[in-house]
Amino acid sequence: MISAKIRDNVLEIRPVTQDDLDAVLEVYRLCEDFLALGPVATASMDMVLEDIEMSKKQGGVFCGIYTADGKPIGVVDYVPNNYQGNPQAACLCLLMIASPFRNQGIGKAVVEAVEYEISKDTRVTTVLSGVQVNNPRAMRFWQRTGYRVISEPRLRPDQTTAVDLQKDINRMV
Ligand SMILES: CC(C)(COP(=O)(O)OP(=O)(O)OC[C@H]1O[C@@H](n2cnc3c(N)ncnc32)[C@H](O)[C@@H]1OP(=O)(O)O)[C@@H](O)C(=O)NCCC(=O)NCCS
Repeated sequence: MISAKIRDNVLEIRPVTQDDLDAVLEVYRLCEDFLALGPVATASMDMVLEDIEMSKKQGGVFCGIYTADGKPIGVVDYVPNNYQGNPQAACLCLLMIASPFRNQGIGKAVVEAVEYEISKDTRVTTVLSGVQVNNPRAMRFWQRTGYRVISEPRLRPDQTTAVDLQKDINRMV
């Protein structure tokens, strides 16, 4: 489990289990504004299960984000190392904060906590991500958290157009 601190409140980030699926679906429902930017606008259990399966296939850790009293407020999916066969690369593949909990610094705290977890593997030097070009809020968020755009916009298999993002891990020596 990863802990993230946001002001005086501690958040828990832990891999989703079977028991968490309904809570994850609720988070997806509270992110339908984001889903509407992609191919399927309505959240469903099939969508949740597909995302978890996809994460598993690429060596990911699909996590729920919870308040200290157990309320689900988001999801984050990351590949800790060996992303796309590169031992030095990790990926922050998905981050969704439920709409009532945005703009409070939670997204940034979660990214920093996951990056810290990733950085414990000293082989990993870089974290990759991606953002749809029709999501300017997320683009601003990723750039503010230190990610830079490293590709031209390109059409992905799910028919969204996105740019690749990268942040190098800054280890204190
Ligand atoms: C993008 C996303 C993950 C950001 O999460 P978040 O929790 O809202 O992020 P933060 O609160 O850390 O930062 C968001 C904004 O809130 C502001 N903020 C942070 N703490 C704040 C506070 N205490 N009071 C007021 N504003 C605050 C930040 O300055 C930031 O502004 P900026 O993005 O214009 O620079 C979230 O909006 C989200 O889940 N969106 C839908 C899904 C999505 O787009 N995911 C990304 C896909 S690539």
